[in-house]
Amino acid sequence: MKNNSMLSKIWNFRDIGDQLLYVYEKLVKKDWTANQTNAHSLRQELARYRPELNDSTTIILHQKNVKINETIKQVYSKEPIKITPEIFHRLSKSDPIGLPKGKRYHSCALVGNSGSILHSGCGERIDKHDYVIRCNLAPLAPFKVDAGLKNDYITMNPSIIRTRYRRFRTRKAIKKFNVDVSKYSGILSIPCFGIRLPEVMKAFKLFKGKKPKMACMNTKHFQSVIDFWGSTGAIDKGLSTGFYMVSMAIQLCDEIDLYGFWPFSSRFESNKTDVAYHYFDNIRPDTAEKHHAMDQEFSIIVQLHNLGIVNLNIGSC
Ligand code: CTP
Repeated sequence: MKNNSMLSKIWNFRDIGDQLLYVYEKLVKKDWTANQTNAHSLRQELARYRPELNDSTTIILHQKNVKINETIKQVYSKEPIKITPEIFHRLSKSDPIGLPKGKRYHSCALVGNSGSILHSGCGERIDKHDYVIRCNLAPLAPFKVDAGLKNDYITMNPSIIRTRYRRFRTRKAIKKFNVDVSKYSGILSIPCFGIRLPEVMKAFKLFKGKKPKMACMNTKHFQSVIDFWGSTGAIDKGLSTGFYMVSMAIQLCDEIDLYGFWPFSSRFESNKTDVAYHYFDNIRPDTAEKHHAMDQEFSIIVQLHNLGIVNLNIGSC
């Protein structure tokens, strides 16, 4: 870990258990206060690292921050993508987040997909935030008591087009896609520029609903966040969606409450190993473990909690 002002406060504990013990009292007593000085210092470090990390209009790619025929770098491939007229016209005309320069939302809830949110009863509290961010098309209504209904920003991993919507090969799958996606308001943010770009473009074309606004994540912003955390030496794998959203929320929000961030199968309060990886399906954590350093990411989240930058909510509300 580099010894610079804010990040030097993020210690290098070897064991996540040690870290949790260190903040255990605080987590159990839900004794947390926002520390705006620390949040401001981290924002300044992000800004010094790359200008886009200080400018919320760069999070989404839109017609005001990219041009037709411009090439953009992909994150996980060396081959650049050219912004064709078709891609350009699918992009939002202006920044869909739309925050005035230098402004932030007062309170944000960021909902991760851990099964630990089940039986928390946190839904009502989540919905009271000014801005609610969610990950990977997590369903709303069936889990409203624990995870809430409000949505301002949700991500969609393009692999869902293959796994849930059969690559849009049938009318039934296209209809299901339209019905499912129309349940969200706000922004649906997609990492468009990868091997699944043709499928993503098809999704834009086939979606007939009025909400949410479908948008492409800006790979330049994503890359800068990856580079920032990589430069600290704290994370040595690709960032998970949730951890990227934590970094994004630090830019967008004064106060951040995290729910559903718990990449473990055992409970915080007991040794029972009955926590599902997701609160809405039965997938196993294997893929996430392969692609992401969930332990390293969680370790940073715990430390950001301790510094008063994010409030990690564990257990019931
Ligand atoms: N998460 C968590 N604990 C879990 C499951 C998820 O903390 N048991 C958080 C992670 O930050 C994760 C986010 O919630 O990125 C969303 O979960 P998921 O949809 O599983 O995301 P990923 O598997 O990370 O998907 P991707 O590979 O697209 O990033």
